[in-house]
Amino acid sequence: MNKLIVGNWKMNGTLELVDEFLEGLNNNVIVGLPIIFIAYAKSKNPNFQIAAQDCSIFNDFGAHTGEVSAKMLSESGCKYVIIGHSERRKTFDSDSISNILKKLQNAVLNGMTAILCVDEKYDELLDSQTVEFLKNHKSQVVLAYEPLSAIGTGIVPSISEISDVLKNLKSKYFGIRTIYGGSVNSKNAKEILDIDSVDGVLIGGASLKLDEINAIAKFA
Ligand code: 13P
Repeated sequence: MNKLIVGNWKMNGTLELVDEFLEGLNNNVIVGLPIIFIAYAKSKNPNFQIAAQDCSIFNDFGAHTGEVSAKMLSESGCKYVIIGHSERRKTFDSDSISNILKKLQNAVLNGMTAILCVDEKYDELLDSQTVEFLKNHKSQVVLAYEPLSAIGTGIVPSISEISDVLKNLKSKYFGIRTIYGGSVNSKNAKEILDIDSVDGVLIGGASLKLDEINAIAKFA
């Protein structure tokens, strides 16, 4: 299976940047767009691969001001949803462990693949109910290991450390797909993607530069 190359724009980007990516992005890249750009990108190119950066704990439709459901995302053409990113977990109480399970369920129920982010404390984040869910839906969940020390810092763990942690996650959680995130760029991506237990990368800052992300995509 091809390695996953997923960009996470976070709260960045403009319509001009979306246009630039629609024009020139390598077609094996999945882009984690801000919600506001998703329908626009899909309407311009139905084959553009998009991840949402979150979904609601509520499914379907309802009186939940400001929320966007997994159903809406799926109907807008998203195939992936990033769930439980540490930047959300540290800011919003709504990204509690029990709510993350609801989001996972909603993403999977609506036919999408959930990219579940964990950090150094993955044992605490993955409680027994979440683990049971992963076990039963592992083809629709990817575990993204994003050590807090590596996000936006330029400091990447050693290759052997990434390899060991992802190998451990994979063996502990039924062979689930495991990807790495944290300061990935075109200079270190090849070495990281060459690791057996690495099924892909989740890229923040470097995913906002078309040349960078296309260079990384070539190593997949
Ligand atoms: P950086 O690649 O900017 O370190 O961000 C990683 C990340 O948080 C991806 O979700």
